Amino acid sequence: MAERNEAAMATTETGRTIRIAAVGDLHVQEDAQASCRDLFREISREADVLVLTGDLTNLGKPREAEILAEDLRACTIPVVAVLGNHDYESGAVEDVANIVRQAGVHLLDGQSTEIKEVGFVGVKGFVGGFGSRMLGSFGEPAIKAMVAESVSESMRLENAMRQVHTERTLVVLHYAPVVETVAGEPLEIFPFLGSSRLAETIDRFKVSAVVHGHAHRGVYEGRTPGGAPVYNVAMHVAKPTGRPYALLEI
Ligand SMILES: [Fe+2]
Ligand SMILES: [Fe+2]
Repeated sequence: MAERNEAAMATTETGRTIRIAAVGDLHVQEDAQASCRDLFREISREADVLVLTGDLTNLGKPREAEILAEDLRACTIPVVAVLGNHDYESGAVEDVANIVRQAGVHLLDGQSTEIKEVGFVGVKGFVGGFGSRMLGSFGEPAIKAMVAESVSESMRLENAMRQVHTERTLVVLHYAPVVETVAGEPLEIFPFLGSSRLAETIDRFKVSAVVHGHAHRGVYEGRTPGGAPVYNVAMHVAKPTGRPYALLEI
């Protein structure tokens, strides 16, 4: 059953609503027993667009990306994706990205794309923590570099948002923009699960919904301080569909 989103539905005076299937953290492995083909076939029947919210591969190996690309042949709808931290692990992120792009995926890394009158804006995001407890730019250069990376991802999101002129917009992230959807993870790792800087940027724009992954033990639904609906669609998170993917009507 589709998740109906009031904020999104309110923006659909022009154009037909589209059904978006969103799932994160596939963590495709070389020696995995299960393939994603059946899942992609099912999603192609249920939705108009598939969104993958990062950690496409388990260790960022090109071979893992090739397996995903082969499985994506079973997907007959457009695919939008961002990368996750795992896709960087083997130092071959350019190869992974190229393989995924060659499979026809709209891989967003600070860009936007428009499909069926909906704008998709994607950036990986980064760590840093939430609210008034966010890591600040103080002290050692390594800490300042970490905060600078977090700020940079938010600015890249902002630049991509400025390029979108659609009535309806979905923001696609890997890291969480709000603390609500990471609840259930150990408290000690909250600062490594996302950053409120992303939500601050999102709230400067009109956004239909936000999807992210990364917090495997988080919860499905949250909201930015400005009211934009946020969904943690990591495949391990329980969703209204009862399936590994969420369905959003936008
Ligand atoms: Fe993950
Ligand atoms: Fe991750």
